[in-house]
Amino acid sequence: MRTQVGIIGAGPAGLMLSHLLHLQGIDSIIIENRSREEIEGTIRAGLLEQCTVDLMKSTGVAQRMMREGHFHEGIELRFKGKGHRINIHDLTGKKVTVYAQHEVIKDLVQARLDADGTIIFSVHDTSLHDLETTQPTIRFKWEETGEQEEIICDYIAGCDGFHGPSRPAIPETVRKEYQKKYPFGWLGILAEAPPSSPELIYANHERGFALVSTRSPEIQRLYLQVDQNDKIENWSDERIWEELQLRIASHDGFKLIEGPVIQKNIVSMRSFVCDPMQYERLFLAGDAAHIVPPTGAKGLNLAMADVQVLAHALGEFYRERNRGFLQNYSDTCLRRVWKAERFSSYMTTMLHRHDEHTPFDQQIQLAELDYVTSSRASSTSLAENYAGLPVECPKDWIKKLETPLLKN
Ligand code: PHB
Repeated sequence: MRTQVGIIGAGPAGLMLSHLLHLQGIDSIIIENRSREEIEGTIRAGLLEQCTVDLMKSTGVAQRMMREGHFHEGIELRFKGKGHRINIHDLTGKKVTVYAQHEVIKDLVQARLDADGTIIFSVHDTSLHDLETTQPTIRFKWEETGEQEEIICDYIAGCDGFHGPSRPAIPETVRKEYQKKYPFGWLGILAEAPPSSPELIYANHERGFALVSTRSPEIQRLYLQVDQNDKIENWSDERIWEELQLRIASHDGFKLIEGPVIQKNIVSMRSFVCDPMQYERLFLAGDAAHIVPPTGAKGLNLAMADVQVLAHALGEFYRERNRGFLQNYSDTCLRRVWKAERFSSYMTTMLHRHDEHTPFDQQIQLAELDYVTSSRASSTSLAENYAGLPVECPKDWIKKLETPLLKN
């Protein structure tokens, strides 16, 4: 097979990249090791920054999100049994949108298939070759026959997540990896219940962090900080609700509305960055290049920002033969990535229980929460980062996508 851009991974990064390339007349093939049902059914986070929403809107994949998403103008930070609202919209002019990642995936898969895009699901044994040549290739095996296939590309985009084969294809001598692991994880549930709060609640409690989010008027998403080695079998539905009620409780008698738990799992937390995010003709995007703990709600949004930069850079190459943006891809992305890493680590540190904290550290943590919710300067900084920092891409480039393309 032959394509301009071979994309490994049909997550938000790979699918949006393929969509943005298509809008510029650039051909791509996506391969994915999971099935369509699996990628469309896996429950992940679900908070979209304004720029992610704008990107989806301006590229014609936002219709369902505009109908079914929930637009929030603020969040609540709750500590010492009291809620404090951060008015994101007042402070930044922006909103955030609750719309689950797998819904974004469904919309993007549909858009690619409607445009006759190629997504090959359930492949095996993906590997990358000849990255230093002008014809980098992807090899994989077809699910049905086990036969090997080869895709010869101009460029390869590694959008295959933290465990995919793309990042390891960059020689170890070339890449530096930065990592921080946290000694806790998040137990996440989906519950059949009406919303308990009109906005997200991030709660700091001496028993540990809790988060109240939503999915729809009927389904709520809630999280609890748990030990990293904890097992989901240890958490009966009754225990989960009891713990959530304790951690979310406020002096004004707030109670979470409970309901049947329809899904529960535990995810570990880490911060990770690979520098550079590119090597010769391979470009990494999304979780393949960086991981953030979910407290800042940045993972999906970083992936979308990466591919916006990459799609623009590839467009500049195919339109103008200008390789400058491609050469700067990693530096451009990493500036934003590190700020999101900083913010995610800040939110995680500020909101979680840390077993190693001394009483002094605990007071500092509460002072931080008090400061961020009472100082306009500090809450503006939190709101600006939460709503999303700007993507370093020329303004309006998406509007100019009609520009005739220079073909190979
Ligand atoms: C979610 O709704 O899944 C969610 C929201 C905000 C976060 C993390 C997860 O910070």
